[in-house]
Amino acid sequence: MRNKERHPSTLCVQGKHTLKSGPAVVPIAQTSTFVFENQQQMLDSVQGKSGEHVYTRWSNPTTKSVEEKISALEGTEDTHVLASGMAAISSAVMGHVKGGERILSSDSIYGGTVQLFNKILPQNGIQVDYVDTDQLVDRLTDSSDAYKLCFFETPTNPTLKIIDIKKVVDAARATGTISMIDSTFGSPINQRPHMLGIDLVMHSATKYLGGHSDIIAGTISGSNEMMANVRSAAKLLGGTMDPFASFLLDRGIKTLSVRMERHNFNAKYLAEKLEKDSRIRKVHYPGLSSHQHYDVARKQMDGFGGMLSIELESDLAGTSKFVDSLDLFLNAVSLGGVESLASIPALTTHYGIDEKVLREMDIAESTVRLSVGIEEPSDLLQDLLSALDDTV
Ligand SMILES: Cc1ncc(COP(=O)(O)O)c(C=O)c1O
Repeated sequence: MRNKERHPSTLCVQGKHTLKSGPAVVPIAQTSTFVFENQQQMLDSVQGKSGEHVYTRWSNPTTKSVEEKISALEGTEDTHVLASGMAAISSAVMGHVKGGERILSSDSIYGGTVQLFNKILPQNGIQVDYVDTDQLVDRLTDSSDAYKLCFFETPTNPTLKIIDIKKVVDAARATGTISMIDSTFGSPINQRPHMLGIDLVMHSATKYLGGHSDIIAGTISGSNEMMANVRSAAKLLGGTMDPFASFLLDRGIKTLSVRMERHNFNAKYLAEKLEKDSRIRKVHYPGLSSHQHYDVARKQMDGFGGMLSIELESDLAGTSKFVDSLDLFLNAVSLGGVESLASIPALTTHYGIDEKVLREMDIAESTVRLSVGIEEPSDLLQDLLSALDDTV
């Protein structure tokens, strides 16, 4: 194929450049260090003149190969793959924000990120202000506070709210604020925020990118200019990806496009069926026309994803019984793997939060988050209906 942009499905398998010689699969460079013939070569590499790898905490060929593939998928100049999603977030933030500066964040973000923002950043003199997902753009535009960085997730966890990416980009640009998205729930198949103007796109690659619940990994993508600060912070913070995990990540990404097709299909199928069941109070899924942000989701997403939440007509005890009665849906946190998972936010990611506060976040004690896998959809439906029959 020449003179034509490659489709994301092709990029997932082959990246931007088809191999012309050597191994058909990226070799695992399981080494901490690299050998040079002489001091001049070593110096050229240390100074970044030769492009040779020096030390795996700085860069590694296996990791570089998967970084190039992710850049092609996201439409960015550069990507850094790190040992976890949290390593990606912390390196990006520490690389761009210094003491005395402020971050504006949507209030609907992953719990680990909230803890990073509330516990670690203030120790470094960085303050984070939170705002409701629907208020993010207005706050950015109206605020007299100068924000260095604006951070948000879309779709959000666990209520699958959608934030208008383009509107955040416009507001951030108008105020000179760096925009950063946690795009984990979307995956680069369903949304490509950099192409809408977002400066830094982050994923917990532990989830859809890896896809098999067998690695912990994170990615951060952006322009070369934006990524230079991220790379120098990451080099010192040390959340380095292991080359074998990079190999598994690359292997996972090869099937990302087909997996996402099935995740998207299965979740929509279940959401539509469950919405009609009287034992379920509410279904949160951005692909339902009843969803509050359906129009925005349709505008900026190519698929609505494999995550959905259901609110049962029950209490916490009944909800726990429901999850315990599931057979195919595994009782586990995390998401984005080929196997379906179920978890109760009130007992896991949002444990210990007051019921009133949970309500303000649109989360009930009876909310169950489903990470819909790629199994046969009618089997998954049957599993959910049987558990409802047993418990609600
Ligand atoms: C949306 C989101 N962002 C970030 C993270 C953190 O990623 P990791 O566990 O790979 O560090 C998670 C983990 O669950 C997540 O769900």
